Amino acid sequence: VTQKESWGTYHILAVNTPSIAAAAAPGQFIMVRTSPLYQPLLRRPFSIHSVSGDGLQIFFQSVGIGTDLLGQKTPGQALDILGPLGKGFGLDGNLKGLKAALVGGGRGIAPLYFLGVELRKKGAEVRVFYGGRSEEDLALRERFASAGFPPDCSTEDASYGYLGLVTDLVLESIRESYSPDRLFACGPDGLLQSVGRLAKGQNIPAELSLESIMGCGFGACWGCVHKIRRKGEEAWRKICEEGPVFPSEDVIWGEGER
Ligand code: FES
Repeated sequence: VTQKESWGTYHILAVNTPSIAAAAAPGQFIMVRTSPLYQPLLRRPFSIHSVSGDGLQIFFQSVGIGTDLLGQKTPGQALDILGPLGKGFGLDGNLKGLKAALVGGGRGIAPLYFLGVELRKKGAEVRVFYGGRSEEDLALRERFASAGFPPDCSTEDASYGYLGLVTDLVLESIRESYSPDRLFACGPDGLLQSVGRLAKGQNIPAELSLESIMGCGFGACWGCVHKIRRKGEEAWRKICEEGPVFPSEDVIWGEGER
C-alpha cells in the first residue's frame, strides 16, 4: 500500500503492483485478501479505479468485516491481490468523437474513473453522471472534476445536485438536448436495470458492469452466476470470467425484463 485517502466510510487505497497495473483495462477487477488470518477467508473483488505508472487504486466503502479491515490498511503494509481479472468495457475500434455517458451510483462509480481516462485518450467525449442516496455518497465528485470530468450529480434526499435517481437525471439531460452514443454503467442492480430500460427506450447501446459476490474470481467456484443471453441462448454464466461487463441487451433480470 502506497497511499490511502478516506471520506467517511469511503476509501481509496493505492497499491504498487507493476505487473497488474501494466496489464489492467477499465472494467477489470482484482481479488484482495482483506486479512492475513482465516476470517474472512476468501478474497473480495474490487474493480480497478485507476492506474498510474506501476500502481493502481481501488475505491471502496466499509460495509462489513472485509472492507472494514481493508479500510484500516495504511501505507507500507502489504496486500495479497490477484489480477487483473475478467473482461472490461468495450474500447475497441474508433472511439473518436463518441459521446460516452458514464453512469455510476455510490461506490459503483469506482471503475468509471479509469474508463473515463481511457475513453478520453481515444478521443471520446466523456460525461459523468454520479448518483447517491445522500451527498456523502458522492465522495469522488471533486476527484472526477479535477480530472476534467465534472460530474452531473443527483441525490435521493436533495442534499446535493438533482433530486432523484441518477437515471432520471440522465433522461432529463437527454430530453434537454444531450444525445449520448453509448452508455456505460456500474452500480447496484436497481441502477443497472434502470440504465438498461433507459437504453432500450432511447435506443442507445449500453454496457453494464455487474456486481456479484465472488468466491474465487477466476471461474472455479460458480459463486457469481447471472442469467445472460448470448447468440439468442440464455444461460447462467460466470460474471467473473465472462464479465463483469456485458451488453445491456444480454443481461436477463427476470421474467418482466425479457
Ligand atoms: Fe468463482 Fe466466479 S467467482 S466462478
